[in-house]
Order: sequence, then structure tokens, then C-alpha cells
Amino acid sequence: MNDNKRLRIAIQKSGRLSKESMKLLKGCGVKFNIDERRLIAHSDNMPIDLLRVRDDDIPGLVMDGVVDLGILGENVLEEEQLERQSTGKPCTFDKLRQLDFGSCRLSIAMPQEFEYSDSSSLEGLRIASSYPNLLNRFLAAKQVSYLDCMLKGSVEVAPRSGLADGICDLVSTGATLEANGLVESEVIFRSKACMIQSPIAQADDKQALIDKILSRINGVIRAKE
Ligand code: PRP
Ligand code: ZN
Ligand code: MG
Repeated sequence: MNDNKRLRIAIQKSGRLSKESMKLLKGCGVKFNIDERRLIAHSDNMPIDLLRVRDDDIPGLVMDGVVDLGILGENVLEEEQLERQSTGKPCTFDKLRQLDFGSCRLSIAMPQEFEYSDSSSLEGLRIASSYPNLLNRFLAAKQVSYLDCMLKGSVEVAPRSGLADGICDLVSTGATLEANGLVESEVIFRSKACMIQSPIAQADDKQALIDKILSRINGVIRAKE
């Protein structure tokens, strides 16, 4: 099992947040070497282990107290919180701070030829998404009923493949939508990266290390402003 004395930080293994997450930790003086084949990386100079996992897994790992800290997008955090609230699972965490990278938005996008006026245009249509709870919250508030199509990946090809009429997915530069003949019709959530902490009480020395990292992060971000 894990060495409970070492601080465990979950970061995205590969994707939009990976490089910036590692850069941030290195900027805080945490030294480590990544072996691409391994899930875990031990810091050489601090009692810290980095867990390199899928971004979607990070909120649950923190809420369940499997790891102490997580660097993740507010999009996956909010989605997991809504999911857990609806199923009665533990969903508490402390948000330590928003970070200055990973900006994106969760948007509904429709094929170019679709005539969109407002969200009522979506009535009765099938929308593919990896964010069913955020999509549902938005459309339920607008009293629009729609059909689900849960896809964990390749969401952007769903309309062309005939699986769905439209999608609800993350947009960063917009290149993915454009490449797939889709047009953004509604922004439903804006997101940045953030750092969160597990709700489980920490030993004093571990909490002191968390506080030190957080104050260094504040310094790193302030220096850039
Ligand atoms: C998102 C989204 C698109 C892409 C959009 O995936 O699913 O594939 O980014 O970016 P663009 O507007 O710059 O083209 P992401 O890599 O964030 O996460 P995932 O691998 O968990 O889907
Ligand atoms: Zn993901
Ligand atoms: Mg993707």
C-alpha cells in the first residue's frame, strides 16, 4: 500500500494540463523525473509522490482521500460533484486555488447546416457528451428535453457518424470543432485548472508541506502577473 507519510498529488498523465501541471510543481521547487511507463513518480527532494492518471479520475481520487492533492480542470471537478450528489457518494474537497492555465469552455455545438436560434432548437434532439450532468443542469434549467448519448471520447465525430444531432464538449482553440464541421451554439460552463485538497484531515507535517506548496504557487503566479 501507499506510504502515508508522503504527500500524494494527482496530475493528468497526458493532455492539455499535463505540461503546465509539471511546470508549476517544478516552479515550486519539487524535483522529480517522469518515467513515461510508470504511473507514479517520486520526488527526489521532498516527501511527495506524483500520480499520473486520466484527468476524469482526479476528482474522485481526491474526494475519496486516495490522494491528498489534485491538479485538474474545473470542468471535470464540477461534473464529478454533480454526479456524486445525484448518487449520494461523498463529494467534498477544499479548493485551494484556481490556476492560471487550462482555460476552456464546455459548449454545445451543432453541425454548420443546423439552424440554431436558442436552446429550444435542441428540443427532442440527441446530444453526445462526456459531461451528462453539466449538460442536464443547463438544459433542465431551460426546460428543454433532449436525448443522451454518453461518449467518453471521440465526441466530435458523433454528428457526422449519425450517432447524435449535436455535441456538448470542451472547446479550447476551437480547432476540433472546425475540423469536424461543427459550430459552437451555447457556452454552458467556463473552466480553468485548479488545485484541490482531500477533505481528510492531515498530519501536521503533511499539512505544513501543503501550505508551503500553496504559498509557493501563489508566489509563482504573482511573479507572472
Ligand atoms: C478536449 C475536447 C476536444 C479538445 C478541444 O479534449 O474533448 O477534443 O479538447 O480543443 P480545441 O478546441 O483546442 O481543439 P481534452 O484533451 O481536454 O480532454 P480529454 O482527452 O479528456 O477529452
Ligand atoms: Zn478526460
Ligand atoms: Mg478530447
